[in-house]
This record gives sequence, structure tokens and C-alpha cells, in this order.
Amino acid sequence: MNNLEKTLSIIKPDAVERNLQEEIKKNFIDNGFEIKNEKKIQISKSEAEEFYKVHQSKPFYAELCNYLSSGPIVVMVLEKNNAVIDNRKLMGATDPTKADEGTLRKKYGISIDKNSVHGSDSIENAKIEINFFFKS
Ligand code: CMP
Repeated sequence: MNNLEKTLSIIKPDAVERNLQEEIKKNFIDNGFEIKNEKKIQISKSEAEEFYKVHQSKPFYAELCNYLSSGPIVVMVLEKNNAVIDNRKLMGATDPTKADEGTLRKKYGISIDKNSVHGSDSIENAKIEINFFFKS
């Protein structure tokens, strides 16, 4: 059944710093995702706070926002059938030490903070996150 979806992916500062963006993008393409839009940017701390506001009550919120704004990131709109769930499967568990073999966070992640990639966790949040970076 056709269930074409879009999701937002971020290649985080730790991966861009190691120049892994082309390799990570190849993983998406090899797994059937189409990159519909992409840009390399650096966001401010207040933009990171807005982006991650669902986590504002968490103890790691300040560090998370400092980190996402600490260097260049690559933001992408990915499209395929079931893109949201399939991207989450491809990324693996948030903590790279708990991620399955073959997943992006297992292959490239350094720590729970420096876990190389972000992906939207629901169709509703994908729409919000895509609009955050690529205002329609
Ligand atoms: P991400 O998918 O970008 O969404 C929120 C981020 O918070 C998550 O990836 C992690 O990089 C980061 N984070 C830091 N500490 C934790 C934690 N204890 N639990 C969950 N996420 C965490």
C-alpha cells in the first residue's frame, strides 16, 4: 500500500565535524529514502531551544540545546513510504551503546548526546519539524 510520508532528519554537529554527511546520506538513499530538500546551517541556541521545546522539562535540555547549536548541521526532508518509522528503525536506539548493529547511531554515534542523527518521532512532529527548517 502506498503510504508516502515525509520526515525530518538532522545530521548533528558530531557527524558533520567528522565529515560524515555524504556517507550518512548514502545510507538514506540505499534504504529507499529520497532527499527532497537539504541545507547545511548553524542554528542559534534560542533556535535549538525552540526546536527541542518538547524536551524542556528534561534534565539534559540545556546541554542538548548547547550541543545542537555548537556547530554546523545538515537538515533534510526525507521521503518514502512509512518514512517516519523507517527512519527511526534506520537510526536505531537513542543511546548508541544500545543501538542494533547496522543502525546509524551504532555505526556513527559517539554518546547519547553525540548520537549523530535526529529523526522526527511521529507524523505530526515531522510536519512541525519540517516547517521549522523549511517554512512553507
Ligand atoms: P534526539 O533524537 O535528537 O532527541 C533528543 C535528544 O536528546 C536525543 O536525540 C539525545 O541526543 C539527547 N539526549 C541526551 N540525554 C538523553 C537522555 N538521557 N535520554 C534521551 N535523550 C537524551
